[in-house]
Amino acid sequence: MQYNKVTASQIKQFQSIVGQSFVITSKEETHEYSRDYTEDLEYYPDVVVKPRTAEEVAAIVKICNDANIALTPRGAGTGLSGGALPFYAGVVLSMERFNKILEIDERNFQATVEPGVINEAFQNAVREKGLFYPPDPASKGSCFLGGNVAHASGGPRALKYGTTRDYVLNLQVVLPTGEIIWTGANTLKYSTGYNLTHLMIGSEGTLGIVTQIVLKLIPHPQHTLLMLAPFNSPEKACEAVNGIFLAGTNPSACEFVEPEGFLLSAAMTNLSFTVEEGVEAYLLIEVDGNDLDAMMKECEVISEVLYKHESGEVLFAQTADEKEYFWKLRRSIGEATKFNNTYKEEDTVVPRAELPALFRGVKEIGMRYGFRTVCYGHAGDGNLHVNILKDELTDDFWGIDIHQAIIEIFTLCKKLKGTISGEHGIGLVQKPYMHVVMPEFQLELMRNIKKAFDPKGILNPGKIF
Ligand code: LAC
Ligand code: ZN
Repeated sequence: MQYNKVTASQIKQFQSIVGQSFVITSKEETHEYSRDYTEDLEYYPDVVVKPRTAEEVAAIVKICNDANIALTPRGAGTGLSGGALPFYAGVVLSMERFNKILEIDERNFQATVEPGVINEAFQNAVREKGLFYPPDPASKGSCFLGGNVAHASGGPRALKYGTTRDYVLNLQVVLPTGEIIWTGANTLKYSTGYNLTHLMIGSEGTLGIVTQIVLKLIPHPQHTLLMLAPFNSPEKACEAVNGIFLAGTNPSACEFVEPEGFLLSAAMTNLSFTVEEGVEAYLLIEVDGNDLDAMMKECEVISEVLYKHESGEVLFAQTADEKEYFWKLRRSIGEATKFNNTYKEEDTVVPRAELPALFRGVKEIGMRYGFRTVCYGHAGDGNLHVNILKDELTDDFWGIDIHQAIIEIFTLCKKLKGTISGEHGIGLVQKPYMHVVMPEFQLELMRNIKKAFDPKGILNPGKIF
């Protein structure tokens, strides 16, 4: 694809739309917009523009559409698939000034927010009113709700409560041709033609730019209980996961972690963590609700299942601080791995009961190709994050052979009726593997949908397919 470079006169036009201080072009200032959390990728834009209103976004989009300039929308830049990187340079449209919670409508259990609101800030704001917004990606302290919509983000609590997808009721969107639409209605049901809201969720900023989000809320559960179970056999831990659900319990989180994940995390966060001898996997399990007695009983049933699967002694977090300690260790694993090593992060997902087969397969493929992995993730969802470590592997291996290994991992996902991304999206880095899970005509169908929204292909080009 061919895109034009941004000219000096277009930069002036952007300045007159958003104000001079919200248009940046110097290499120093655009540096932070050239990267996200994905591996070590770096793509500089010609210019970063920071609009404040949907009308400003529309005006910028029209200029790019007329002049055939690539435009990449960006949230907080915490993505793990390169979705916010300006692969074809051009304009990065930073949504950081869209940072207002516009309304919390307690009467209807919903809220209207701008896309640059930080996930955790929103959770806290609704919590004060006794309300709950469950989606909680590991980067919740910095990621934007708009980015969560773009990637259909999940997090540990997606297990019981669903992902971002299950909480978006309606979206205000600027189309790549400059029109501003609402995709649906502020209702819990919607059967009014194609569901453009759900098409937009997970579209990674390739179909439109979200400028307002209407989110569903639920009552906040009053209590949580958190337990950590150590296993000598990671496969037994994986098997225990399905056992927990077969026993009829409904935990709010069920996370799998290999010890190295916790150790890397502890080293980066300066928290202490000791792995008992022989331990090769942990399950971190949370139960929530309003009836503490019922929750305790649920934990007992879960513990029985864990012990049946040869868990070591199950530890209960005793205080709010202890719970936060474990969650901090868990949430920091991704970042700590990146901090410690060159790595590739795969977001494999399979039906829950197939988790042991996925784990076994990943380790077998690693042995055959000679790489190490640190696996962790949302086991209850069958969503295993596979961090492949470069260690001492050669650049040649890392640049070429590793792709064949990843294809093997993804082929296994497909065989187990899963897919190549559960919550991190395709972006740039998983794009070469889309053909593993879908035939060419299905990719072509997606390209045609993209064309219907974005005939000139200016919006976030180079992503997904
Ligand atoms: C996590 C992110 C990487 O689960 O999805 O930690
Ligand atoms: Zn995750």
